[in-house]
Amino acid sequence: MNGTTVSQSSSTIAPTADRREDRAREGSALRVLVCDDEELIRWSVAEHLRAEGYEVSAVADGQECLDAIAAGTPDALVVDLKMPRVDGMGVLRRLRELEIELPTIVITAHGAVDSAIEATRLGAVGYLSKPFDLRELSLQLKRGLDATRLQREVRYLRQKRGYERLVGQSPAMQRVFEMLERLERVDAPTVLITGESGTGKDLIAQAIHARGPRKDKPYMEIDCAAMPETLIESELFGHEKGSFTDARTQKRGLFEVARGGVIFLDEIGEMTLATQAKLLRALENRKFKRVGGVVDLPLDAAIIAASNRNLRDEVKAGRFREDLYFRLNVVPIETPALRVRAEDVEPLAAHLLERAARDLGRPVPQMAGDALAALARYPWPGNVRELRNVLERVVILRQGDAPIRVEDLPPEIRFSSVSPSDARGTEGCPFELPVDGVDLEAVEKGLLAQALARCNGNQSAAARLLSISRYALRYRMEKFKLT
Ligand SMILES: Nc1ncnc2c1ncn2[C@@H]1O[C@H](COP(=O)(O)OP(=O)(O)OP(=O)(O)O)[C@@H](O)[C@H]1O
Ligand SMILES: [Mg+2]
Repeated sequence: MNGTTVSQSSSTIAPTADRREDRAREGSALRVLVCDDEELIRWSVAEHLRAEGYEVSAVADGQECLDAIAAGTPDALVVDLKMPRVDGMGVLRRLRELEIELPTIVITAHGAVDSAIEATRLGAVGYLSKPFDLRELSLQLKRGLDATRLQREVRYLRQKRGYERLVGQSPAMQRVFEMLERLERVDAPTVLITGESGTGKDLIAQAIHARGPRKDKPYMEIDCAAMPETLIESELFGHEKGSFTDARTQKRGLFEVARGGVIFLDEIGEMTLATQAKLLRALENRKFKRVGGVVDLPLDAAIIAASNRNLRDEVKAGRFREDLYFRLNVVPIETPALRVRAEDVEPLAAHLLERAARDLGRPVPQMAGDALAALARYPWPGNVRELRNVLERVVILRQGDAPIRVEDLPPEIRFSSVSPSDARGTEGCPFELPVDGVDLEAVEKGLLAQALARCNGNQSAAARLLSISRYALRYRMEKFKLT
């Protein structure tokens, strides 16, 4: 690989040896809820865990325990089995019903093996029988917390097919990488990523999380374009039972689930003005209420927003709140279009080819010079995503193991390698018709996109270059959805 790459460097991986130092650096201690009706046990366990650096709260029965969890989920729970009102088993059952994933250590009476088995079946990660050694408690707690964190990570990684590397050597991408490096040390940055579709906004948001101080905390994303307004609010803030027709149970929102972590608000330009107002209020006050709720919950999440619209224009048009724009635009990152950084095409192509081949279980193909030249010349209206799709297709359709040649590329790319200035003034047809025929529309689209890129989007100049009227150019741009 000859591209400059950003990957998780060892210096950014926190040492696991001293968890207390870790937590101090992250600025938030892990929260443990202790629940036992015996005051002495409650007190000694709480004191011991506090001394270990945990943030501890303690309650005296199962009902109080469930109330405390409803008011804000801790990172772990230590719960006695035998208690008045709701017992420990009742707590475990309720957590399961609510799908709250909470590493739980149960404290059982001496010799109650059956209940220990039952508790484990209900999801407890450890159990201790009284009297127990506090050091054993610490050990089980740490193991439970680590296991839960790992499970979350595995689930997340499976879903995302891995945190991918960012590739690019152009000055524009170097600036993006420098910003990412600076953000590694910032605990809860507010970042606004803007750029055309397919330029890597998602990838950058993931990198900010994966490399920053909150990397062990949740990363949650919501796509504002894919969701109706009411759902966005309940996704973000959660809702109380009965707060609207479909709210049959209480639901915790992203702001609550992602506590201490990072929230990625994708396509924020699609959010309605009403929801924008609620989001702004939450960000300003650093607290929020569930929909239909009365209790203020703390907002502790780094916010990364992204948009492929120009939000300044949206503000001018009255579609985006100016105050929210300023609130989000604390750290602006602009992802440049691929056509303005042709030097990134080669390293990106190498990276994406390797990835496609690996995913499809094929050997990594070589690329001939003429194919690379054609890729570098094409203006990539769909940016890196389009490049990825093209290379995936090439890997799938390829037969044999000869290097990829320009003939193996889709027509719009093949033909954008014949520049219109070469074409004009020559006699006869400047194009050589390939044996397998040609898709005229693709040729047209390729030339159109290339002319626009060469003229930096200036339509009059592009029309002149193509020897057509501005009107004809507009017509074709609309036809090919290039506007
Ligand atoms: N610099 C890069 N290095 C490696 N891969 C990249 C890079 N930029 C984008 N990609 C890849 O291109 C594809 C599109 O990127 P991504 O989904 O992040 O774009 P986006 O800007 O979020 O697009 P949209 O606005 O449509 O949501 C992904 O497969 C991503 O892995
Ligand atoms: Mg995206």
